[in-house]
Amino acid sequence: MLDQTALPAEERWLRCECAADVADAIRRLAVRGAPAIGLAAAYGIALEARRGGDVEAAADLLAATRPTAVNLRWALDRALAAADPLAFAEALASAQLEQDRAMARHGAALIPPGSSVLTHCNTGALATGGAGTALGVIVESRPAHVWVDETRPLLQGGRLTAWELERAGVPFAVVPDASAGTLMARGLVDAVVVGADRIAANGDTANKIGTYTVAALAARHAIPFYVAAPASTIDPSTPRGDAIPIEERSPDEVTGAFPARNFAFDVTPAELITAIVYEGGVLRPPYSLEGAEVAHEDLVRP
Ligand code: MRU
Repeated sequence: MLDQTALPAEERWLRCECAADVADAIRRLAVRGAPAIGLAAAYGIALEARRGGDVEAAADLLAATRPTAVNLRWALDRALAAADPLAFAEALASAQLEQDRAMARHGAALIPPGSSVLTHCNTGALATGGAGTALGVIVESRPAHVWVDETRPLLQGGRLTAWELERAGVPFAVVPDASAGTLMARGLVDAVVVGADRIAANGDTANKIGTYTVAALAARHAIPFYVAAPASTIDPSTPRGDAIPIEERSPDEVTGAFPARNFAFDVTPAELITAIVYEGGVLRPPYSLEGAEVAHEDLVRP
């Protein structure tokens, strides 16, 4: 896999031989983004099965790496149940590409061409293994300009989204996360599109820390705020956002010099979300998300 910690300076590739290698890569964000984490974990089970390892123990190890992205548990459960985990992982990879393309089409129809769109974190191909979620929607919508939140503290926006938009030839500027309010107040943002790590049954959405701030500001300025995520990110068993486990990472990622807290995700209440785009279409409030899960099951049955 491409080691995302080295981007954009270097395209360095990692070789994983077993589930422990994959777990290590997920833990240190060499691979990150909810759908890509799920996909990597499925391949981790396939690697473990090939070497005759304990796949149940491998699944526990992988599941413990990152608690918020529900795609991880989703993919692991299905990889464990599959007669051939490698065939499942490969089916999931191609399903992801199809889902991302469908999502991009549904989402782009919501955004007039030539818009200025703001996004947070990285939701491109790097984050899904396919064509991206929110970033796929944004690119498909042919925006005039993209505002890329740098996404402190690990700079998934400033390093990864910028790298992907440059390769796609889309005009963009990286901005400090704290710029969103002033950009909106100046009339420089027409729409916000972000991804998700877990969407509760009522539509409350966990995504990279800082997303809630952007959503609150978008509501203040009457700017549409869209979430784009595959149905595997929807967790009907979590009723509301306050039940979503939030990963807290090492304070050292924030500062090595002083005490710090490092919540990796926050929850945006459903009432701030104009629409949720998934591979099956566009969902509007009040959100009722159980049917979305069924659509996804149909797509990934190997
Ligand atoms: O900590 P990360 O980089 O894994 O966080 C990623 C995000 O928050 C993304 O917005 C989300 O996973 C959606 S990716 C298509």
